[in-house]
Amino acid sequence: PSLEKDFLPLYYGWFLSKRSSESLRKTGQAFLDELANIKAFKKESNKYFGQPPEEPKLKIDLTSYFVKRPPGVLHCTTKFTDFGKAPGADDYAQQDIVKTSYGKSFFLTISALFITPRTAGARVEMSEQQILLWPGDVDVLQPAVSLPKGSRAHITLGCASGVEAVQTGLDLLEFAKLEKAGNKGEEVGEIGGGKLFSFGNGMWMLLLSKKIEVRAIFGGYYG
Ligand code: A2P
Repeated sequence: PSLEKDFLPLYYGWFLSKRSSESLRKTGQAFLDELANIKAFKKESNKYFGQPPEEPKLKIDLTSYFVKRPPGVLHCTTKFTDFGKAPGADDYAQQDIVKTSYGKSFFLTISALFITPRTAGARVEMSEQQILLWPGDVDVLQPAVSLPKGSRAHITLGCASGVEAVQTGLDLLEFAKLEKAGNKGEEVGEIGGGKLFSFGNGMWMLLLSKKIEVRAIFGGYYG
């Protein structure tokens, strides 16, 4: 037994293979390009996406809008442990399932892509096996809104200037909160890949008609 306390990572999560990561980035980009051309989106993009008011017809370049993109391969954070300083970090790290899954390979399912004025991301739908790795304390929107386990599971694709990556999960919880209240969004139509829904306030979601499977390794990121 080691005398040292385990050194915990910045976060635990699933890290996509290089190939899956590149492919998902491309899919995300295609979604942004297509969304920017949709009439209903253009109509409100100047309000929520900072389009110059003097050029309301100008097509917004969403790829440059979400300027902060994750470096390296994409990932789905399970628990942000902040090197052990985050609440619940030790409890999470000490679980057998976390230890035995470390370094193991998984297939994650992506069911939707979404954007808000702050972030762009992919919604991850976990299997029952994968949910075992999901922490019990992260599907919460302050003040005191608890959402079904796994509601926050996502892959950040990009953040607007000045927005931190942690926001993507909070934005997805915001979608989940609306869904829980019975608001499934307004169907805007079919675009490449699936059905597009508008939730108001610059929140858009593409429900993929064919879910995407990505290959990923569970592990920790030490920065
Ligand atoms: P996400 O998983 O939504 O992409 P950073 O680069 O800001 O240090 O963050 C590293 C990773 O940890 C990012 O992937 C980020 O968000 C996630 N993250 C950062 N802060 C938090 C937090 N407070 N709670 C949950 N996840 C976080």
